[in-house]
Amino acid sequence: MRQERNAVILAHYYQEPEIQDIADMIGDSLQLSRRAAETDADVIVFCGVHFMAETAKILNPSRTVLLPDLEAGCSLADSCPTDAFAAFRRRHPDHIVISYINTTAAIKAQSDLICTSSNAVELVRQLPADQPILFAPDKNLGRWVERNTGRRLLLWDGACHIHEAFSESGLLALKAEHPAAEVIAHPECQESLLDLADFIGSTSKLLAYARASDSDAFIVVTEPGILHQMRQLLPGKTFFAVPGVDGCSCNACPYMRLNSLEKLWRCLASNSPRIEIEESLRKRALKPIERMLAMSR
Ligand code: 13P
Repeated sequence: MRQERNAVILAHYYQEPEIQDIADMIGDSLQLSRRAAETDADVIVFCGVHFMAETAKILNPSRTVLLPDLEAGCSLADSCPTDAFAAFRRRHPDHIVISYINTTAAIKAQSDLICTSSNAVELVRQLPADQPILFAPDKNLGRWVERNTGRRLLLWDGACHIHEAFSESGLLALKAEHPAAEVIAHPECQESLLDLADFIGSTSKLLAYARASDSDAFIVVTEPGILHQMRQLLPGKTFFAVPGVDGCSCNACPYMRLNSLEKLWRCLASNSPRIEIEESLRKRALKPIERMLAMSR
């Protein structure tokens, strides 16, 4: 069916293993956006969450973009409502607005520049030192960018629910049990957990770090979906998942998990549900994404 429809299946690292196993490409937010922009497939099936599929449509509007479950949202995107953000921006008119890609098209359209976790530091470093910056919506990523650039950012008070749900005591217990293991963490985690990490980076950078490191064990502080690729690509190494607060499994993203293999099959069969964006909004949201792509390696 993928061949019949001339479709490409793009999957984020946080998707279910069986979806990752049949995807044409698995990647982080930046890599998937680039691939969506460049593809000549007629149909892009985006196995990820809504803002990712929406970004694909913004970048490549002549393609049909499908999301297996339209309810696959993002707590970070939800933490930044359009009107409240517009009011916040108006209070700081001298600030350049940098928004994380985990936002709606309406927030992107109000932004000067988009970033992902893999290029946020690199982009901020390129801005003039005296340029005030408003950064939204992830305060944890924002603080990490501040620490890596020495810049002060005006932060929107948003966060990713699942990255805030990792247990610090669970991480410390794993470290005590496996003292030789390196801790690798996503910058959406809270500062107290990032302080315990040997390496911090986007999903693809965590994977690249584990591959390049001499260590053979890693404690992974991000959505556990990525463990599937880590274990497949690096079978000689061991990966431990950090538990959620009070031992919950609340660090598995419920939105990412809404996509299933069956829903993927159904969406290819029915050519729906589709992502549609009103054209003037799309054009406004496109500008800061194109600026990001031009500024990042
Ligand atoms: P990256 O894959 O770009 O690290 O982002 C992860 C994420 O925020 C998914 O919501």
